[in-house]
Amino acid sequence: MELQSITCSSSNVVALLWCASLLLLGWFPTDAVGITTKGQESDLEALLAIMSQINHDPFGVTRASQNNLVGSIPSEFDNLLKLEELQIAQNSLTGQLPPSLANASSLQEISLKWNRLEGRLPVTLGLLKRLVALELNGNNFSGSIPPSFCNTSSLEYLVLGTNQLSGILPVCLGSDLPNLRGIFVGTNNLSGTLPESLSNVSNLETLEVSNNYFHGKVSVNFRNARNLSWINIKENNLGSGSAGDLDFVTTLTNCSGLQVVSIAFNQFHGLLPNSITNLSVALTYLYFGNNQITGTIPLGITSLVNLVGLGFEYNRVSGTIPDSIGKLKALQWVSLGGNALTGRIPTSVGNLSRLNVFGLEENLLEGSIPSELGKCQNLMKMGLQSNRLTGEVPKEIFSIVTLSVFLDLSGNLLTGSIPSEIGHLKTLVDLDISANKFSGQIPAALGFGSEADVLPSSAQFDRARTSRLARNYSAGPRTSDLGKRAFQ
Ligand SMILES: *[C@@H]1O[C@H](CO)[C@@H](O)[C@H](O)[C@H]1NC(C)=O
Ligand SMILES: *[C@@H]1O[C@H](CO)[C@@H](O)[C@H](O)[C@H]1NC(C)=O
Ligand SMILES: *[C@@H]1O[C@H](CO)[C@@H](O)[C@H](O)[C@H]1NC(C)=O
Ligand SMILES: *[C@@H]1O[C@H](CO)[C@@H](O)[C@H](O)[C@H]1NC(C)=O
Ligand SMILES: *[C@@H]1O[C@H](CO)[C@@H](O)[C@H](O)[C@H]1NC(C)=O
Ligand SMILES: *[C@@H]1O[C@H](CO)[C@@H](O)[C@H](O)[C@H]1NC(C)=O
Ligand SMILES: *[C@@H]1O[C@H](CO)[C@@H](O)[C@H](O)[C@H]1NC(C)=O
Ligand SMILES: *[C@@H]1O[C@H](CO)[C@@H](O)[C@H](O)[C@H]1NC(C)=O
Ligand SMILES: *[C@@H]1O[C@H](CO)[C@@H](O)[C@H](O)[C@H]1NC(C)=O
Ligand SMILES: *[C@@H]1O[C@H](CO)[C@@H](O)[C@H](O)[C@H]1NC(C)=O
Repeated sequence: MELQSITCSSSNVVALLWCASLLLLGWFPTDAVGITTKGQESDLEALLAIMSQINHDPFGVTRASQNNLVGSIPSEFDNLLKLEELQIAQNSLTGQLPPSLANASSLQEISLKWNRLEGRLPVTLGLLKRLVALELNGNNFSGSIPPSFCNTSSLEYLVLGTNQLSGILPVCLGSDLPNLRGIFVGTNNLSGTLPESLSNVSNLETLEVSNNYFHGKVSVNFRNARNLSWINIKENNLGSGSAGDLDFVTTLTNCSGLQVVSIAFNQFHGLLPNSITNLSVALTYLYFGNNQITGTIPLGITSLVNLVGLGFEYNRVSGTIPDSIGKLKALQWVSLGGNALTGRIPTSVGNLSRLNVFGLEENLLEGSIPSELGKCQNLMKMGLQSNRLTGEVPKEIFSIVTLSVFLDLSGNLLTGSIPSEIGHLKTLVDLDISANKFSGQIPAALGFGSEADVLPSSAQFDRARTSRLARNYSAGPRTSDLGKRAFQ
């Protein structure tokens, strides 16, 4: 390669840097006569001019993510026939995507995520037969997802989350794109039902459709999706109000690498299926909160030994909390409030040494608070309020020095006096022990900061009132984390 024959000429610093790095890598075609940009153009235009003269870029030297590129994408794409990757993510690009982008027919990856692009998704993108990944999340695209996208038969990742897209998820995605591995369309305005055709996407690894307006029964059968590891359909209006609403959950039992299932904040009715005990042992999050689900927590849930988060809160779950819950040693977040659970709090919860959030509020639980809870030395939030708990509060509870966000024992039938050990909870912001049957004096040793503002300076505990704050239990998986895992 004759370096002398290559010139990097541009008034533009960014373009020059790119050009220089390409020279250093020797990454120009041997017959290149020079990289010349006009000198007047914007960073973005200069970049595209450079891209247009590169055959192949396996080391990604033209990737331009996380810069400060501004401006809109030029409508001339005729000279980018060789371009395989267009990566200008996390910049400040504005304007619309030009339909002529489809003329860059070698494109395999388009990543323009986290810019400020808007307008409709060009129908012509369906012409990009080699496209493997289309990442346009975190922009302001509106309109519908063009069915022409089903013509990009190589497509593996469709990433359109966090836009303003409306309309339906095209049925043809399930039938025409056999290579799809990831569908990321969360946080849009999409509606309609989840197409049954998704049952045919056997390579599916991620289905992320949360925070849209999807409705109706989930009739997708996931038995073919053996590699599915993440399904997040929370925050929609899914469910038909009938007994079979959760049948699809049983079809997830063949997904042997399943890690996350979140169906929270929907309209699912019906029985919690026993088949959840047959879900993958790899499962870390099971998040079913805020639906209308009935039934009991199956004893066999202890087979899910890698569970980190378990949430059934605000449903109509009844029965007892299985004693064996203490076997789920990875649990950090247990949220079962707002149901009709009866019986005692199992002492085995003391075995959950990683427990961070423990919410059993607004149930029908009886018996005393187990002293074993004192072994949960990572607890930060505990809500046991509005149950029928009796007896004295074990002083071990007050040895959990990590209890800092809230401890709510209000609205029970607790008796006795408050041990002076309560003063050990020095970082606790919100304590509520009101509406119980406590007696005696308030311990003088209370070491709360002034912001705690929980106990009145006198009067009996059973009249103590605090400002009631909405509790924040939410620890469900976040879309953005997944995007990172899949695409970095
Ligand atoms: C592709 O380029 C040709 C000219 O080479 C132009 O006529 C056509 O409109 C372009 N296609 C798109 C989709 O813009
Ligand atoms: C997104 O587009 C809508 C109109 O479609 C506009 O009202 C809104 O300001 C835009 N938001 C951003 C962040 O650009
Ligand atoms: C897909 O491409 C074929 C031609 O290759 C065309 O006839 C068809 O209309 C395209 N489908 C969509 C939905 O654009
Ligand atoms: C998306 O839905 C929100 C809430 O319903 C609405 O305010 C907004 O206008 C919708 N945007 C579009 C582009 O439909
Ligand atoms: C799945 O694909 C088969 C074969 O192409 C087809 O017969 C069937 O209708 C598809 N199922 C769904 C639910 O789309
Ligand atoms: C699942 O992943 C494995 C390993 O990556 C792969 O061989 C297989 O083709 C994938 N798809 C299905 C449906 O098993
Ligand atoms: C689950 O996978 C096994 C193979 O591991 C297969 O024999 C079985 O039919 C599958 N179950 C269903 C319900 O598809
Ligand atoms: C769990 O799977 C086993 C083996 O496939 C099956 O025999 C059993 O009935 C399943 N249990 C539930 C509750 O679905
Ligand atoms: C779990 O908790 C129970 C009840 O407190 C206790 O008897 C048992 O020894 C504990 N098991 C382990 C493995 O720590
Ligand atoms: C709950 O979370 C929201 C959003 O993070 C926050 O604004 C609010 O202050 C929190 N409430 C409490 C009681 O911590």
